[in-house]
Amino acid sequence: MPTLDWLNKAQALKAAAQVPYRLIEPQSIHGDPAADNWLIQGDNLDALKALLPFFAGRVKCIYIDPPYNTRSAFEHYDDNLEHSQWLSMMVPRLELLRELLSEDGSIWVSIDDNEGHYLKVVMDEVFGRTNFVANVVWQKRVSPANDAKYFSSDHDYVVAYAKIKEYWAPNRLPRTDRQNSYYRNPDNDPRGAWNSVTYTGNKTRAERPNLYYEIRNPFTGDAVWPPDTLTWRYGQETHTQNEAQNLLYWGKRGTSKIPRFKMFLTDAEPTVPRSVWSAGECGSTQTSMTEQKALFQNAFGTPKPELLLSRILQIATQQDDLVLDSFLGSGTTAAVAHKMGRRWIGIEMGEHAQTHCLPRLQKVIDGEQGGISEAVGWKGGGGFRFATLGKPAFLPDGGIDPSIGFDTLAAWVWYQETRTPWERNKVGARGGTPLLGVHEGTAYYLLYNGILGDRRPAGGNVLTGKVLQAIKDIVPHAGPKVVFGESCRLSASRLGANELRFRQIPYDIRAR
Ligand SMILES: C[S@@+](CC[C@H](N)C(=O)[O-])C[C@H]1O[C@@H](n2cnc3c(N)ncnc32)[C@H](O)[C@@H]1O
Repeated sequence: MPTLDWLNKAQALKAAAQVPYRLIEPQSIHGDPAADNWLIQGDNLDALKALLPFFAGRVKCIYIDPPYNTRSAFEHYDDNLEHSQWLSMMVPRLELLRELLSEDGSIWVSIDDNEGHYLKVVMDEVFGRTNFVANVVWQKRVSPANDAKYFSSDHDYVVAYAKIKEYWAPNRLPRTDRQNSYYRNPDNDPRGAWNSVTYTGNKTRAERPNLYYEIRNPFTGDAVWPPDTLTWRYGQETHTQNEAQNLLYWGKRGTSKIPRFKMFLTDAEPTVPRSVWSAGECGSTQTSMTEQKALFQNAFGTPKPELLLSRILQIATQQDDLVLDSFLGSGTTAAVAHKMGRRWIGIEMGEHAQTHCLPRLQKVIDGEQGGISEAVGWKGGGGFRFATLGKPAFLPDGGIDPSIGFDTLAAWVWYQETRTPWERNKVGARGGTPLLGVHEGTAYYLLYNGILGDRRPAGGNVLTGKVLQAIKDIVPHAGPKVVFGESCRLSASRLGANELRFRQIPYDIRAR
């Protein structure tokens, strides 16, 4: 496959693997303390890596609106990277985002013409060309920018990829009043309003001779044949039923040359998403600025309208699905996800994580009525946690930072071994036992921070005969076992007899 090359691409491809694993440090809880929504302040490269052990493969929909590289310095962030640097910034983040997506998940990226075409090529590399779904054109501007030197730039793109296209299906969209307004009832059909489609088929006479036959106009009695080389839409038997059910329309006075076929509004399906989204349907930058002014004294400069996000979440998620935005800006994605009953994680590195996102999301919990609130009947409720990023879990020499708790190390070890997220409520840390869980028949145990209490020498972190017995008593598992601990005092034959492999902390744990 042809690929894009740029200065320092090789480093960019290694960057995601080289980012240290950091702690997420909860700072405050807002609203319902049981809610598992997260607002994280920090560089998203670090934050995404920190989320992997807990959320890999769990996110149903990712929306990001990264800096477009417009050579601008906005009030709240700079948007002026050298072209290669922009690509090198995006690639490792896209790689981590891909790991966080569920198999039936999708990613949506807002972009414009500055980097859009390069982004498409890079996303082909990261997500696979076959997983490309659409390059949506969103009409961001209604009236032209007459001061533009060349063209008034009236649209942005939203580039969408599925993690695995065969496992992903878009939700159909509810019908709008405008779409329904095309259904009328000129013949007072008791079944209600209808729209009509052509009664000719898309095959030629040569291909389907059985669809070429004479029908009669009931008003004039004239014999009528399919025009040109065409055929009718249905065979003769179905046509007779259609006539009996009054499904053919010959015009108000029966004067049409060929009939049309009636389709009733009551049978109309929700609609398939289309690739051009008008400002009327999804809002414009003007809509989002109006939303900002109602929310903040100091409006964020480059927000997206809530309607645009609600369109994406309508297509790509269901109630309770997890939504992630790692370039959160003023918090639009999180606010919309919350109002639509989705779970969410938002990451923003700027101070506006605290000056904009946090108060905005607090307002949402309190029942804020701007944006999509009225349309979704939002009344308030729910909650979220605000967190920052802590220090790396591993020291430069590979050792473990002494302040690292059991949960943090457990999640990392589990993820490194299984490539699946660690569930905090699994038997293990919460139950005060060293079992992290069982994956494909193998049980994983972690002896760390004295998890076994007083049954231990050297803080319970050494695998001795006693500790092995304690493990077997507390969490029996017939089958292969892997134990991570400080050291092991069991002989190779005893390990073998117990189907046990020992891994030494920290040397056998990959720090990155
Ligand atoms: C275009 S804005 C997003 C606007 C957002 N969609 C909204 O509706 O408010 C891009 C945001 O990405 C943030 N950002 C840029 N680089 C980042 C990084 N490495 N980690 C986290 N956030 C970053 C910027 O601070 C800025 O707030």
